[in-house]
Amino acid sequence: MQLVSGAHHSPFISSEWWRSAIIYQIYPRSFVDGNGDGMGDLPGITSRLGSLASLGIDAIWLSPIMRSPQKDAGYDVSDYTDVDPLFGTLADFDAMVGRAHELGLRVLVDLVPNHTSDQHKWFQAALAAPKGSPERAFYHFKEGKGLDGELPPNNWLSMFGGPAWTRVEDGSWYCHLFDSSQPDLNWENPAVQEAFEEILRFWLDREVDGFRVDQPHAMGKADGLPDHPDVDRAGAGFIEGEPSPPMWFQASVHPIFRRWRQILDSYPGERAMCGEAYVLPLSFMALWVRNDEFHQTFNFRYLDSEWKPEILFATINESFKAFDSVGAPSTWVLSNHDIIRHASRMGGVVGRPTASDGIGPSDPQPDRELGLRRARGATLFTLALPGSTYLYQGEELGLPEHTTIAPEFRQDPTFFRTGGERVGRDGCRVPLPWESGAGAANGFNQTGKAWIPQPELYAEYSRDQQEGVEGSTLEMYKHALRLRKVLGLGNGSFDWEPEYTNATTLGYRNGGVLVIHNFGQEAIELPQGEVIASSANAASVGIEPDQTVWLKTK
Ligand code: GLC
Repeated sequence: MQLVSGAHHSPFISSEWWRSAIIYQIYPRSFVDGNGDGMGDLPGITSRLGSLASLGIDAIWLSPIMRSPQKDAGYDVSDYTDVDPLFGTLADFDAMVGRAHELGLRVLVDLVPNHTSDQHKWFQAALAAPKGSPERAFYHFKEGKGLDGELPPNNWLSMFGGPAWTRVEDGSWYCHLFDSSQPDLNWENPAVQEAFEEILRFWLDREVDGFRVDQPHAMGKADGLPDHPDVDRAGAGFIEGEPSPPMWFQASVHPIFRRWRQILDSYPGERAMCGEAYVLPLSFMALWVRNDEFHQTFNFRYLDSEWKPEILFATINESFKAFDSVGAPSTWVLSNHDIIRHASRMGGVVGRPTASDGIGPSDPQPDRELGLRRARGATLFTLALPGSTYLYQGEELGLPEHTTIAPEFRQDPTFFRTGGERVGRDGCRVPLPWESGAGAANGFNQTGKAWIPQPELYAEYSRDQQEGVEGSTLEMYKHALRLRKVLGLGNGSFDWEPEYTNATTLGYRNGGVLVIHNFGQEAIELPQGEVIASSANAASVGIEPDQTVWLKTK
């Protein structure tokens, strides 16, 4: 069976950096801990930026470092213009940005506009103010249903489990699509809009190169906050094809992002913003990257795709069709801080309905060897696709998910709001191993303390065990990233190679490079050409199952 009617993508002529950038996500809690308290920090990040630059990336994105009670690992901000003391100070931040720029790395920071922390002064003022006051109008406060207003105002559920409403002392309810400590802002309110424009400028003035914008598709709410038409789906997040959900992707948000784009454009140096817009199908997501809105969105279709040829074929076709129609780059991403690491996700049946539910000790456990082999194949397949690619810290080490975290170390609100039924996302957020055997935390710090202790097996994935070691996952990443740059693949073209586009292989060309991945159970013959990159270590004559090769054919 040959898969037919595939996409064609022409090279971008533009040199705008974000069109082809490799952007590395740093999860600050777990990257490097400079002061030894068990929590990663900004001085730690600065100290290891050189290692990152040597990987061959273009930019870093930092998950939230703003002041926060850390109820959702920083996605609950209590002060948007300060750094959380856990991570350091604004001066540490400036030093980090300065060092990154010296190394030629751009810096994106995470901006969380859909909700604040309940400790934010706006929310505290709203609680202290009477019903109907301007302070309350910063958020979505509403009267409940029932004789005494004792029932939530509508049927919405929180993404982390339980109702999306919490009642306050005077009987009103406030809306939170996430944890009760994360009240949703009312983006219809011009005062909220103005406040965020100031926040954007604050960070742009500090020389950040842009933002990763959290949950932008949640910011608008349908007028009057009506019930979700399908109660079973009211807390499931957006599901494609559902009747228009009143809490996701309202058209009212687009003018806000246009305004933000103007602000970014008014600064020198191609500042950019990437939206975590979970909006499918991609033809719909493409509306978010029209040339006066976001520069990029995460391609969740690709991230969520099962690693099967017919599914990926359709996904990649849909991606180029959608993003090319608005002249935006597709982004490609396999892992982030919200889902099971791809080295584990791909290791057989992992027994969880969604990747953000994590893997617990009593779930079926992934096959590490199979997972790593497939993850390496998937990564190499991804890195030659034209567009921008996001990497998540630790994937360059082939790091697996931590699946046996003891309950006392868990922090994800999902775990608490579901009574442990969904173990949540902590397993992909564990401190990185840098030097094997350097203290209990393998060089994450010098004291061995860690907010989540690493599993023993992380020592063998340490960076020092892989640096300069031929065939290591780290060296595979470095090699591929170097070639990608030298050959201009990020700004390149895309065409399927019909001979390899079928039920067991996928093959595509980007300029003079032919990329083939073998999804089958048997090795296949290598075509003519020079193998310039391979995901498998063993020198083989064919392309083994799960292996990707890059061939130079002209
Ligand atoms: C985004 C973040 C996630 C966070 C949620 C609420 O999906 O990636 O980590 O919990 O938004 O802010």
